[in-house]
Amino acid sequence: MKSYFYTSIPTFFLLSIIVITSGITRATNDDSKWLAAEAQALMETGWWSNYKKRVGNHCMWPGIRCNAGSVVDTDLSGHGLNGSITPQIGALSKLRYLNLSWNILTGELPSSIGNLTQLAVLDVSCNYIYSIPKAIQKMENLVSLNLSRNSLTGKLPSSIGNLTQLEVLNVSYNDIHSIPPNIGKLKSMVDLDLSNNWLVGPIPSSVSNLTNLASLYLQSNKLDGSIPEDNGRLTNLVELDLSSNNLVGPIPSSVSNLTNLTSLFLQLNQLNGSIPQDIGRLTNLVELDLSSNNLVGPIPSSVSNLTNLTSLILQLNQLNGSIPEDIGRLTNLVELDLSSNSLVGPIPSSVSNLTNLTSLFLQLNQLNGSIPEDIGRLTNLVKLDLSSNRLSGHIPSSLSQLNTSVALYDNKDLCIQGCLPCPSTKHNLVVIILVPTLLFLILFFALVIFILCRQYRAKALKHDPSPTKNGDLFCIWNFDGKIAFKDIIRATEDFDIKYCIGMGGYGSVYRAVLPSGKVVALKKLHRLEAEQPAYDTSFRNEIKFLTEIRHKNIVKLHGFCLHNRYMFLIYEYMEKGSLFYALSIDEEAMELDWTKRVNIVKGVAHALSYMHHDCTPPIVHRDISSNNILLNSELEAFIADFGTARLLDPDSSNRTVIVGTYGYIAQNLLIRWL
Ligand SMILES: *[C@@H]1O[C@H](CO)[C@@H](O)[C@H](O)[C@H]1NC(C)=O
Ligand SMILES: *[C@@H]1O[C@H](CO)[C@@H](O)[C@H](O)[C@H]1NC(C)=O
Ligand SMILES: *[C@@H]1O[C@H](CO)[C@@H](O)[C@H](O)[C@H]1NC(C)=O
Ligand SMILES: *[C@@H]1O[C@H](CO)[C@@H](O)[C@H](O)[C@H]1NC(C)=O
Ligand SMILES: *[C@@H]1O[C@H](CO)[C@@H](O)[C@H](O)[C@H]1NC(C)=O
Ligand SMILES: *[C@@H]1O[C@H](CO)[C@@H](O)[C@H](O)[C@H]1NC(C)=O
Ligand SMILES: *[C@@H]1O[C@H](CO)[C@@H](O)[C@H](O)[C@H]1NC(C)=O
Ligand SMILES: *[C@@H]1O[C@H](CO)[C@@H](O)[C@H](O)[C@H]1NC(C)=O
Ligand SMILES: *[C@@H]1O[C@H](CO)[C@@H](O)[C@H](O)[C@H]1NC(C)=O
Ligand SMILES: *[C@@H]1O[C@H](CO)[C@@H](O)[C@H](O)[C@H]1NC(C)=O
Ligand SMILES: *[C@@H]1O[C@H](CO)[C@@H](O)[C@H](O)[C@H]1NC(C)=O
Ligand SMILES: *[C@@H]1O[C@H](CO)[C@@H](O)[C@H](O)[C@H]1NC(C)=O
Repeated sequence: MKSYFYTSIPTFFLLSIIVITSGITRATNDDSKWLAAEAQALMETGWWSNYKKRVGNHCMWPGIRCNAGSVVDTDLSGHGLNGSITPQIGALSKLRYLNLSWNILTGELPSSIGNLTQLAVLDVSCNYIYSIPKAIQKMENLVSLNLSRNSLTGKLPSSIGNLTQLEVLNVSYNDIHSIPPNIGKLKSMVDLDLSNNWLVGPIPSSVSNLTNLASLYLQSNKLDGSIPEDNGRLTNLVELDLSSNNLVGPIPSSVSNLTNLTSLFLQLNQLNGSIPQDIGRLTNLVELDLSSNNLVGPIPSSVSNLTNLTSLILQLNQLNGSIPEDIGRLTNLVELDLSSNSLVGPIPSSVSNLTNLTSLFLQLNQLNGSIPEDIGRLTNLVKLDLSSNRLSGHIPSSLSQLNTSVALYDNKDLCIQGCLPCPSTKHNLVVIILVPTLLFLILFFALVIFILCRQYRAKALKHDPSPTKNGDLFCIWNFDGKIAFKDIIRATEDFDIKYCIGMGGYGSVYRAVLPSGKVVALKKLHRLEAEQPAYDTSFRNEIKFLTEIRHKNIVKLHGFCLHNRYMFLIYEYMEKGSLFYALSIDEEAMELDWTKRVNIVKGVAHALSYMHHDCTPPIVHRDISSNNILLNSELEAFIADFGTARLLDPDSSNRTVIVGTYGYIAQNLLIRWL
């Protein structure tokens, strides 16, 4: 952005003094009459009512800068000015800079403002102005006009098209409905921001005549129609944001002529067609977001030429084909999201060269093959989601060294070493011939038996609730060391009762000392429980929430195993057990002195605040009780048991269902025991 007049505050004051004194000595009789008129006008604005008596010379009033005795700059931003702007402002005809931003001004801009023909910068942003006069066309020297965050409605006056010197026009965050059709006349325009309004209809083709544009922001409107092919003429564009509109049609191939672009945001529209083949020409791109459209076809291999990209967001389209082999060249990438498409083929091994990645989202595609062995090199990863694909093979052990939230569920053939035996990959000729034959026979009989069973079950078990999918294995890994299934079985002697340390909302809780010396808590769902849909749902619910949220006062989930025989969660171990327990034992309760209790409340409050305010959508636990608050050896509180938690749908009114432990309704308990 340009800085028009200010150099720095001290020089500003020095200048004003020199200017004022020289101005006064040079002032003739005529001048002083006119100056008096200026001072009068300033007084009548009512904005200096505290000063006019104390400081006679209006050039000394705050926010005023004079040149040759007349006011050239007025900066009253953030002075709490209210009411409407008085017409007297039009008398300051030498004014070149007027900044009234961040006040509570309302009403119309007075049409006398058209008298400020020397004005180059007018900033009335962040007020409640609801109308601008046609007379604005007379301000022929206006270079920068900032009207953002006001209450403008309807049309912008077409007289704005007369401001041919205008380089910056910002009308964002108002309620205007249309772009003036003659906007194409503002040939000097460099930055045009009409975002966050109610603009309807198509993007006027005349916008493509603004060939000096460096930024064009039209996001968050109701624009429809397609992106004008002619926009490819705006070759000076550096930032283009058309996101969150109702744009349809293809991304014009001419966009690849905008080689100065550093950010291109077209997400949240209904664009279709494929991504321009030549997009790789936009080598200055840093951010590219085309998500939430209806784009089809492959990701052009040329994207791997966009080596300055830090974020590449293409999720929620219908892209198919495979991920470009060379994607590993985009070494500046911090965020890569290709989720919810129809991508096939393997995850290129080159992704493990993207060492700056903090999030990698490839879930909800049809990717197959195995996870690149080297994925553990992505040491900056915070979130990795490869769930709901068709990945197979071993989960690389390098993954467990990452301090990353990892989601791998719903990949049918993926297995954690030690959690379940992996299917054998050895084949020989006999197997190749025998297997199909056997399979055919087995399938045939299976089909016969299946049909018979179905008929029987349909009669006998019309409401069979069993949701357990045999052999279906979901796994996540969220732990800095390696946890092997067999170590857990060994440490608990196959969940022997002597390691049981309590009962959760469902299932039993066990304490396990792993070979590394690390102690973990395990919550195991009993077989009978696992067959009850309610418990199964709670269990999955807990997995869902604890893999997605992280807070120092929410218990950490290290991993889980979800298999028809063993359904258990692996948590951080809490030495002091539940708060309920601590309070019910006299000795423990005494150790919990006032400060510690306050700290516990604070911890719980922090966690709740995080869930309610920092998570979108907010998460409600719905079963906060002293049973579900755990204490570690330092008596710090951790919220556990997310079995009944749910996302709070802001649109839903269904918030009054009472769930959870009988006798407790949310935070009441905190008051009860204090
Ligand atoms: C007007 O003042 C505000 C607040 O001091 C400042 O942020 C803004 O940049 C100024 N506007 C112009 C055009 O200088
Ligand atoms: C403006 O604010 C002053 C003091 O803050 C108040 O006395 C006056 O009534 C307000 N004027 C309007 C038009 O709101
Ligand atoms: C604005 O200029 C017109 C003439 O161009 C003049 O008649 C009018 O008084 C001026 N308005 C103010 C408020 O100075
Ligand atoms: C504004 O533009 C229109 C048409 O382009 C012209 O007729 C009119 O005189 C202009 N107004 C000013 C004040 O220059
Ligand atoms: C209004 O826009 C101008 C030009 O882009 C900018 O310098 C100024 O900071 C903006 N005003 C505010 C309050 O942000
Ligand atoms: C763009 O400008 C040219 C020349 O000034 C003019 O002939 C043409 O009509 C303008 N196009 C649009 C769409 O406004
Ligand atoms: C890109 O911008 C530079 C100045 O930043 C300019 O010289 C160059 O012409 C622009 N490129 C194109 C293709 O317009
Ligand atoms: C890109 O620009 C070149 C030269 O200005 C032009 O010949 C070509 O047609 C443009 N390409 C597209 C797709 O608009
Ligand atoms: C990448 O960005 C740097 C500056 O951040 C720039 O110098 C360089 O030219 C850009 N690379 C490409 C290929 O445009
Ligand atoms: C990447 O850029 C190089 C050099 O500009 C070019 O030769 C190559 O064809 C481009 N690759 C793709 C896939 O477009
Ligand atoms: C990773 O990011 C850092 C800054 O965060 C940067 O200095 C470094 O060059 C980046 N690494 C790669 C391989 O681009
Ligand atoms: C990763 O980068 C290194 C060096 O830049 C390169 O030699 C290697 O081939 C790349 N690995 C993959 C899998 O692309």
